[in-house]
Amino acid sequence: MILVTGGAGYIGSHTIKALLERGYRVVALDNLSVGHREFVLCEDFVQADLLDRAALERVFEKYPIRSVIHFAARTAVGESVENPEIYYYNNVVGTLNLLSAMRAHGVDEIVFSSSAAVYGDPEVLPIPEDHPKRPKSPYGKTKLMMEEILSDYSHAYRIKYVALRYFNAAGSDPEGEIGEWHDPETHLIPIVLEAAYGIRDHVEIFGTDYPTPDGTCIRDFIHVVDLAEAHVLALEKMREGKANTAYNLGTGVGHSVREVIEACKKVTGRDFKVVDGPRRPGDPPALVADPTKAKRELGWEPRYTDLEEIISTAWAWMRKLYSRR
Ligand code: UFG
Repeated sequence: MILVTGGAGYIGSHTIKALLERGYRVVALDNLSVGHREFVLCEDFVQADLLDRAALERVFEKYPIRSVIHFAARTAVGESVENPEIYYYNNVVGTLNLLSAMRAHGVDEIVFSSSAAVYGDPEVLPIPEDHPKRPKSPYGKTKLMMEEILSDYSHAYRIKYVALRYFNAAGSDPEGEIGEWHDPETHLIPIVLEAAYGIRDHVEIFGTDYPTPDGTCIRDFIHVVDLAEAHVLALEKMREGKANTAYNLGTGVGHSVREVIEACKKVTGRDFKVVDGPRRPGDPPALVADPTKAKRELGWEPRYTDLEEIISTAWAWMRKLYSRR
């Protein structure tokens, strides 16, 4: 059985769906601080916090867990700057508790949800995995610390791990069962689609004077279904012995904020107000993955390489979400 922490979150819930489709048995754990209970598609669900060691112990006693996929973490960059304590406790201490429970129960396989935030400002593009790691926010620092803890544990205690560094997760389950739903929303594509839907007055572009072709930031948008698929592949390859390493997950192609806005207008067929604003502190001008290693070693190939197609799945989900509210 596979324990998925953070299974009620955006990427966790899509990964559970992919695991169930492959016939894996799954138990989800989530404290529901930001996740949604209805996103958990597996039968077994435990509402618990990784900081609650007794609850974790009960989970490992009750279920025959063989591997862990670990998503549970706070994920907002800005919030982590304002309140780092929540990040160091939830992300780092939570992971230590999880690893203790794993060791106590002889569970030695973990796929870890990492982030492009470990790199900080890129020195080269596209970014390879061995790029210097200079995270700019407490959030990014916690992700790097957790990778380093996993590496040390793999040497000392022989656990096996794979860290997956996501670039910009986007899109939603094409079947519309689950999707992206953050409150408050801070991510570009859902914000732009909210403006298209009419529940947001305008979109503000954070910075139009970057050293990029149109002056706005460039990001690598990777579909959440492709991310989910990579977790399943990482788990399987880890079991075959390919472990204790990190992979970038991105398409390798960047799109600017203005391009995303134009693509959203095209996909939705709607126009809305766009305002040029100042830079958001901490944003690197461009983040684009070099995904060669994941393709080569995991046999991973992103299916959604077209930005408009990614946006279409997000738009279908948003219309469903708001029509039932
Ligand atoms: N942006 C706007 N207007 C908005 C929202 C976003 O112009 O209203 C811009 C941002 O300034 C940025 C781009 O759109 O240039 C993408 O912003 P997001 O907030 O959607 O995503 P980030 O690239 O900031 O964050 C992502 C992940 C984080 C991860 C980070 C790594 O969501 O988890 O990449 O830097 F930490």
